[in-house]
Amino acid sequence: MVGHYPVMLQEVLDALALENKKLIVDGTFGGGGYTRAILESSNASVIAIDRDHEAIARSKPIADEFKTRFSITENTFSNIKDVVKQKNITSVDGVVFDIGVSSFQIDTPERGFSFMHNGELDMRMSKQGITARQILEEYSEEQLAMIFKEYGEERHSRLIARKIKEHIEEGNVFDTTLSLAKFIDRTIKGKKKIHPATRVFQALRIEVNQELEELKSAIDESLKLLNIGGRLVIVSFHSLEDRIVKERFLELAGKRKHINKYKQEEIVSQNGEPVYQSITSKVLVPSDDEIKENVRSRSAKMRIIERVA
Ligand SMILES: C[S@@+](CC[C@H](N)C(=O)[O-])C[C@H]1O[C@@H](n2cnc3c(N)ncnc32)[C@H](O)[C@@H]1O
Repeated sequence: MVGHYPVMLQEVLDALALENKKLIVDGTFGGGGYTRAILESSNASVIAIDRDHEAIARSKPIADEFKTRFSITENTFSNIKDVVKQKNITSVDGVVFDIGVSSFQIDTPERGFSFMHNGELDMRMSKQGITARQILEEYSEEQLAMIFKEYGEERHSRLIARKIKEHIEEGNVFDTTLSLAKFIDRTIKGKKKIHPATRVFQALRIEVNQELEELKSAIDESLKLLNIGGRLVIVSFHSLEDRIVKERFLELAGKRKHINKYKQEEIVSQNGEPVYQSITSKVLVPSDDEIKENVRSRSAKMRIIERVA
């Protein structure tokens, strides 16, 4: 199995501005690429989080090498505040999230994330909760259509939802990734630029792992932990996630005209100064060289915000 290539690694290190920083949270440990680079290139310690038990198991060499400078917790990153609190820590100097699935997850057929391999239709990063197969069986046609439309931006959401439910009612099962991918391929006719199952797979993955809710909470919980000068760095891989990050960062940096009183208190200090500052006016993307080397990085988008007061 190939490892995970850390996306925009140098950009992430630069964004965290590690000089004089003592403690960084890597909220998406994955293959440990960011964590290792932070530990090797600075004096900072790292608290890592991942919801996938297999990622935790992979952290052993880093734990052995960096000892007290490294710890890892199996949890969702929306619980970042509790994870840190359990270590009697109340603030940190930086937080990074590299949202999405790792190559370890995509390339392991049994995890069921990819229609490039045949495996159980699962998609749970933490191996807990409802699977993609159960969603197809238990959600109504309307709920499925809504998910495919909202989370997959799928034009044929209603048609696919209807056909899937009919197929299940006829006594068939979608127990594997390929059974679903081939069914969608047969259902959608006409010219296709990308594999017709791409959007439905994205939508199911987001729903199974509650990815957008996770991201929204994680942004707010992380900001509460940042010391002045501390940065929150987010690398995301599709437009739904990037939109959430972009909108929230704009709001926090006071770039939105209409902000309610509650939010005003959150983003303006007692002496009227902004509490947060966007570090990048434009979204950062991988270099052409990186995309050539690792085609999976092509849709990455990075945004940075700093606590300044
Ligand atoms: C793209 S990989 C991170 C790769 C890592 N930056 C590296 O360099 O190896 C994303 C990881 O985040 C984890 N993850 C995704 N969403 C999560 C969440 N809500 N809470 C905790 N971990 C999550 C996944 O299980 C996966 O291992």
